[in-house]
Amino acid sequence: MTPLQNDTFLRALLRQPTEYTPVWMMRQAGRYLPEYKATRKNAGSFLSLCKNADFATEVTIQPLDRYPLLDASILFSDILTVPDAMGLGLYFEEGEGPKFERTLQQEADIKKLVVPDMAELQYVFNAVSQIRKTLNGRVPLIGFSGSPWTLATYMVEGKGGTDFLNIKKMAYARPDLLHHILDITAQTVIQYLNAQIAAGAQAVMIFDSWGGALAHDAYIEFSLNYMKKIVSGLTKTSEGSKVPSIVFTKGGGLWLEAQAETGADALGLDWAVDIGSARKRVGAKVALQGNLDPAILLSTPEAIEKQVANVLASYGHGNGHVFNLGHGITQWTPPENAAAMLNAVREHSRQYHQ
Ligand code: CP3
Repeated sequence: MTPLQNDTFLRALLRQPTEYTPVWMMRQAGRYLPEYKATRKNAGSFLSLCKNADFATEVTIQPLDRYPLLDASILFSDILTVPDAMGLGLYFEEGEGPKFERTLQQEADIKKLVVPDMAELQYVFNAVSQIRKTLNGRVPLIGFSGSPWTLATYMVEGKGGTDFLNIKKMAYARPDLLHHILDITAQTVIQYLNAQIAAGAQAVMIFDSWGGALAHDAYIEFSLNYMKKIVSGLTKTSEGSKVPSIVFTKGGGLWLEAQAETGADALGLDWAVDIGSARKRVGAKVALQGNLDPAILLSTPEAIEKQVANVLASYGHGNGHVFNLGHGITQWTPPENAAAMLNAVREHSRQYHQ
């Protein structure tokens, strides 16, 4: 493999010195880019983009070609490939979010759940190797998975963004059943992320998009503990380099101290948290990734520059910050506003690394 030409992102995750604050954007490949929409049309659907290594590579590289200031790439795929491989039948309806044909609500169905053969996810690992080859050392490649709790919300509810009443009822009435789902899913995620690392992923991120819906004790029991288990099961070095891990609970700003004990190298922050206060709370244990409100990218280049400067100033001097949005970029973002953000990060961040 060609050596990395830009390892700024990996150094920041490991809290090593960098010349500026590295940056990437959650959902950086997606519908705000006209070139993504064209490829998606060509492929026929979102899932056929994910399942074909040529298409997945093409859309992963698109934001890097448009924005030379990006310091990382992320595998084009979805967290829901895992429940799909577990036999739940993922599908998308135009204009609606992802859904599953089958849900896990009956005890008998839950008891039948097993760790799937990783061959079911071979298309993801093929995409990882092809993307790595195509990147040719440009920037590091991030692999990812959903957290067991977040994947379980889709498996039990059959779709996302609900009030989570079915899965919460299970958590309180039949915790044994939910723990069974989470345990099988955590074992699956460990194998899945390690196979992505073996195929060439240079950092990994766990998306706990719905962890913020939980009560305090329930978050620790049903979400955090399983992410901790995953982090301890991850391959720590590959190709002679450390493979840093990032844990991101959306809406999880209350629990940063606990997240810093998972063994992850970095924590993702959504926009609700002041990053400077977060840094004081976690100390030198972890790096922080975030946390501009993605809605700011709908405004003007001047407003964007000001808000970027505020996030950088709040983090302050020193290492351990990866700039990002607090959640995925919205499809309504004008592409030139993303460029304004990336320019502002590069220009304003050098002063904090002297
Ligand atoms: O960041 C990247 O560029 C990598 C690609 C990526 C996608 N999904 C592509 C995608 C990543 C990292 C994900 C993760 C993901 N998927 C999460 C965790 C992150 C988060 O947003 O909290 C979740 C919860 C999902 C589940 C999912 N997939 C939802 C809720 C949706 C619909 C949302 C929407 O914007 O319509 C998807 C579909 C999806 N995944 C799209 C993309 C680019 C849009 C599909 C399309 O082209 O229509």
